[in-house]
Amino acid sequence: MYYDSVENKHGLKHDPFKALIAPRPIGWISTVSDEGVLNLAPYSFFNAVAARPNYVMFTSVERKDSLRNIESNGEFTCSLSTWDTRDGMNTSSAPVDYLADEFALANLETAPSQMVRPPRVARAPAALECKHWKTIEMPDVTPGDDNGHFMIIGQVIGIYIDDKFINDGVVNTAEMRPLARMGYMDYGVITPETTFVLQRPSVQDDGTVEPAKGEWDGVYR
Ligand SMILES: Cc1cc2nc3c(=O)[nH]c(=O)nc-3n(C[C@H](O)[C@H](O)[C@H](O)COP(=O)(O)O)c2cc1C
Repeated sequence: MYYDSVENKHGLKHDPFKALIAPRPIGWISTVSDEGVLNLAPYSFFNAVAARPNYVMFTSVERKDSLRNIESNGEFTCSLSTWDTRDGMNTSSAPVDYLADEFALANLETAPSQMVRPPRVARAPAALECKHWKTIEMPDVTPGDDNGHFMIIGQVIGIYIDDKFINDGVVNTAEMRPLARMGYMDYGVITPETTFVLQRPSVQDDGTVEPAKGEWDGVYR
């Protein structure tokens, strides 16, 4: 099949777009209101977009509380949501009042951040502390003041990693069992069984291209 994605007349039961951009990592974003109320919500329009300096982005579809707090005080954290915390992650997405503390709602303990005010999820095996850099507004199909899409880009200034997931100087991501968002209400989970290594290709003397042999030298090319 093929369809015009602007008109969005796909003829399927549900819009397939998000089912095709999968898996997407989930940024579990915490912020604090100026009144000191903690806020926590998952965002899967989320990714790392640059390294050194490290930047991440997430998109608020319409103006949501996380965006409101970040616009007002410029700080957020992204905790890694994993198989162990899947229910808490889901609960924290409930559309509750701006003044509701979603850590409490989802029965999740906080752990203090070092460089920003919003805490991280204590049970998360890793978390990023971020300073707001820029928000890019992308227009909605129906133009209006508050119904655009707001891509929030933040610089990662501090990173927490639970030491128990560091072996031999390497982070064991698969052992953390991070969740991945797919389309519809579907999710995946990264595990050691579904993870594999593929070395970057190098050009041989005879011009052929093959994956480099031996252990990775630690340089991203
Ligand atoms: C796995 C998952 C991913 C989500 N991704 C997004 C997203 O990328 N953008 C968005 O606006 N809402 C997303 N949502 C919905 C928000 O989490 C939800 O609207 C939440 O109430 C927003 O919280 P806030 O108003 O405290 O920021 C997602 C929900 C779930 C469960």
